[in-house]
Amino acid sequence: MADKINVITMCGSLRKGSYNAALTRMLPALAPPGMSISAGPSIRDIPLFNQDDQDTTGIPAAVTALADAIRAADGLIIVSPEYNWSIPGTTKNTVDWLSRVEKIPFVDKPVALQSCSRGLLGAARMQYHLRQSLACLDALLFSKPEVFVTFSPQKFDKDTLELKDQPTLDMVKAQLVAFEKFVRRMTGKN
Ligand code: FNR
Repeated sequence: MADKINVITMCGSLRKGSYNAALTRMLPALAPPGMSISAGPSIRDIPLFNQDDQDTTGIPAAVTALADAIRAADGLIIVSPEYNWSIPGTTKNTVDWLSRVEKIPFVDKPVALQSCSRGLLGAARMQYHLRQSLACLDALLFSKPEVFVTFSPQKFDKDTLELKDQPTLDMVKAQLVAFEKFVRRMTGKN
């Protein structure tokens, strides 16, 4: 039996009732047997990027913690909303800070994307814009199956925020199975 691969998550929404955070929380339980998924350090304390701050006080501790966790993991899953047809400032600001650390953690790192939105497209436009930034940083982008959770209020329990919709659960599980194979191929961990 091959060793388990270790994947961490990064969530781009800070909202208490976030659907993206709710999906992120469910991923460990949906992982295939050969993959362990855990939450990466929160992006909550990452300040807005300012080159002057980097030049004077260096990389913030919250960025270093996340960069270290991504480097140590075999793969990364980014779960993010879409704002105004693109990447929310929270997610993009995090990527921008991570691109400033000495050893950029995205380089040669298998990365999968997932997103939830209230609308028809499930934040697809965010994913394609994020792919562009991650390609700039030499991430190894997993392609498909894609995970777009559309009409999220209908898919999550109103009170517990548990993902209840079986086709959506099946879609997420199918991506995780394929992502495990991709990570093993990319990392040579067979
Ligand atoms: C949104 N929302 C949104 N949805 C979408 O599908 N495409 C979009 O372009 C936008 N734009 C947008 C801008 C801003 C500023 C906000 C606050 C919201 C709606 C969005 O899908 C919804 O609020 C989700 O619930 C956000 O994700 P979380 O916080 O639930 O994870």
